[in-house]
Formats: sequence, structure tokens, C-alpha cells
Amino acid sequence: MTQAQPHHGDTEVHGDFLVSSVNLRALRVSVVSSCVPFLLAPCVIGQHGRKTMRRTKGCYLLYILLLGVFGSYGSAQIASRPADQWITLLESPDRVANLKVPQVVAALRLERGYSVADIGAGSGLFSRALARTIDPGLLYAVDIDPELLKHIDGTCKAERIPNIRTVPAVFEDPKIPDKVDLIFLCDTLHHIAGPDKYLTKLPAYLRPGGRVAVIDFRENWPPGHEAMKFTAEQLKSWMAAAGFKKVEDLSIPKNAFFHIYALK
Ligand SMILES: C[S@@+](CC[C@H](N)C(=O)[O-])C[C@H]1O[C@@H](n2cnc3c(N)ncnc32)[C@H](O)[C@@H]1O
Repeated sequence: MTQAQPHHGDTEVHGDFLVSSVNLRALRVSVVSSCVPFLLAPCVIGQHGRKTMRRTKGCYLLYILLLGVFGSYGSAQIASRPADQWITLLESPDRVANLKVPQVVAALRLERGYSVADIGAGSGLFSRALARTIDPGLLYAVDIDPELLKHIDGTCKAERIPNIRTVPAVFEDPKIPDKVDLIFLCDTLHHIAGPDKYLTKLPAYLRPGGRVAVIDFRENWPPGHEAMKFTAEQLKSWMAAAGFKKVEDLSIPKNAFFHIYALK
């Protein structure tokens, strides 16, 4: 394990996943499906002449329109990995100890009845702790991976945590079903392509007085994270552009920054 590994627990991701920096399956779907009209058009035109060519052009335009509407899958997560690997890494004892989950949750000063969204909930490590703290308030465990959401549903049932709702997100929007008092992102932002744009979506999901907490690497990014790096200063300027001001700068966990933001 490298020095910084326990914080994220996803160092092994780098190898093949980070070389491409995108979810390869998503890319394949997107590229292959985009080629279909090009492959089919010459056959159709050859058989039926000009009139059909115009119709084919029309069909192709419609196809592009549909890809735009339904094609968000192709926009890809940075450094994706299968759910079972995520779960093992995210729940590894070293990582859990280094993240200091109880201290992080205490620092958020949550009250019973608050509602919280954990974006990029992963295995549910923080979701479970946050849900217990705000019960009977609702914890929305948001992720783009349905297998991880299934895992969270299972563990919450087994651990009798009644106030977690799993939320299937899309790459560019968390799709939280209601406004919340806190949006929490731990080790998620560096997996999102276009984090600055993504952050502009968050104010719409906050109740008045709501906050956003972000934990990510401060230094010692593990090898392979080169394409995903951002600094605390960058985050602050992205958040400012999204309408937030920094209200707290905490130094837990070690080697990470932990910023809390409120709307300006
Ligand atoms: C390194 S894990 C962090 C998990 C959890 N926050 C933790 O600290 O234990 C990153 C998680 O973000 C999720 N993710 C990546 N891109 C996302 C997006 N655009 N929206 C929601 N979740 C995303 C991944 O599926 C993965 O579960």
C-alpha cells in the first residue's frame, strides 16, 4: 500500500482503468452505436436510390437526437471499477481507520431529523454512519452504480437502518428526490468528469441554510490519479462559481482536505 492509499483505498484502480480514464464499457457502447447508421446507410442508399437517401438522412438526425437524450451512459465515469472491487477497497480496515468516520460525522454537527445526500455513496460506509446520526431524518445514498445501491439496501436491511433511501444518479446529475440540509461527497468528486459543471447543480438540491461537505486528497495523490487531481484552491473557485462560500476548513482525515460550504 502506498502512503496515501488508506484514505481512498482505490490505488489499484490506476492500472488499466486509469490509463483510459473512462469507463471502457460505456465508451464501447457509445462508439459502436454511433457507427451503426454509417455502416447501414450505404446499403440502404445503394438499394433504393436518392429518395431513400433523404429518408436515411432524416433517420440519422432522429438517431442523433435520441442519442443526445438517452446517451448519458456514454459520458463515462473516471476510473470506474466493478462493485465487488469497490466494496472490498472502500471497506478495507486501513481505509476505514484512516478516514476517521466518527470524527468526520461529528464535525458535520448534524441534528436528528436533518436530511442528507451522500453523493457517490459507494459501499455505504458514510451513508450508514450519517443515517444513524440523523434518524429519523432521511439519508439519500446516491450513486451511478446500481450494484452498489443494491449492496447498500442489503446492508441497511441487515443492520436495521430504516432511514436510508438509495438513489440511482446519472453521471451529470445526482437526481436527489428532495431538498436536503447537507450534501456530502467523500472521494467522489475526482471521479466526476467536469466537476465544476457538476457542482453548479447542487444549489437546487439544498434547503435554505443547507451545506455541502467535500473530502478529497490534499496531497500525496496515489500514482495513477494524475488525470483526476485537483487542488483545494480549485475546489474553492469551482464552488464560488456555483454560488458557495467556504465556511469551514477541517483537517480530518489526514492527507485530505475537508471543506464545508454554504450558499453565499
Ligand atoms: C472512491 S468511491 C467513494 C465512495 C464513498 N464516498 C466513500 O468514501 O467510501 C467513488 C464513488 O463515486 C461513485 N460515482 C462516480 N461518479 C459518480 C457520479 N457522477 N455520480 C454519483 N456517483 C458517482 C462511484 O460509483 C463510487 O461508488
